[in-house]
Amino acid sequence: MSYKLIDAPLLTADQIRTRVYELAQALESTTNEPLHLVAVLKGSIVFLADLIRAMRGPITLDFIAVSSYDVNVSSGAVQLLKDIDTNIKDRSVVIIEDIVDTGLTLEYIQTLLRSKKPKTLHSVCLLSKPSRRQTKVVIDHVGFEIEDHFVVGYGLDYEQQYRHLPHISVVEVTSKQ
Ligand code: IMP
Repeated sequence: MSYKLIDAPLLTADQIRTRVYELAQALESTTNEPLHLVAVLKGSIVFLADLIRAMRGPITLDFIAVSSYDVNVSSGAVQLLKDIDTNIKDRSVVIIEDIVDTGLTLEYIQTLLRSKKPKTLHSVCLLSKPSRRQTKVVIDHVGFEIEDHFVVGYGLDYEQQYRHLPHISVVEVTSKQ
């Protein structure tokens, strides 16, 4: 495989900041109850960090990890690497995901968390690629819908690189002949 990072951002840091603030407001307007946020490691950490600082609270945090992407292709098989640490029974829970591609990861996490009987379960993602969807997974709040590009930055990686970028850029991946 060879790849090339496209210089011009697909989404600038300013665009992301504005939208994350709107998402924080939308999330808090859904309920007056304390929210328990479950962030999906590792890609959602930057999104989570900005989102919670735009919220008034009260909020609590938890983390879940599932099997990661195989470079730029979804394997379709999701495995739990780290479960949440908290009892979420009867609590208002929100899944914080970086990007929804096929939807298989989010669907798996929703099913797992629903089995723990939360009072409510909502899902927020920063990015969504609707054209890639393989399930009818429900996402309550979507930051940006994007085309079928592989993107990095703002927490998202390509082979663990580029998570630190403040903006989101496209990576062009090509197979070497
Ligand atoms: P899904 O199960 O196909 O929806 O994939 C979700 C996961 O794949 C995300 O949590 C990301 O870790 C990863 N992923 C999907 N698309 C991208 C991308 O464009 N850049 C980086 N990671 C991605």
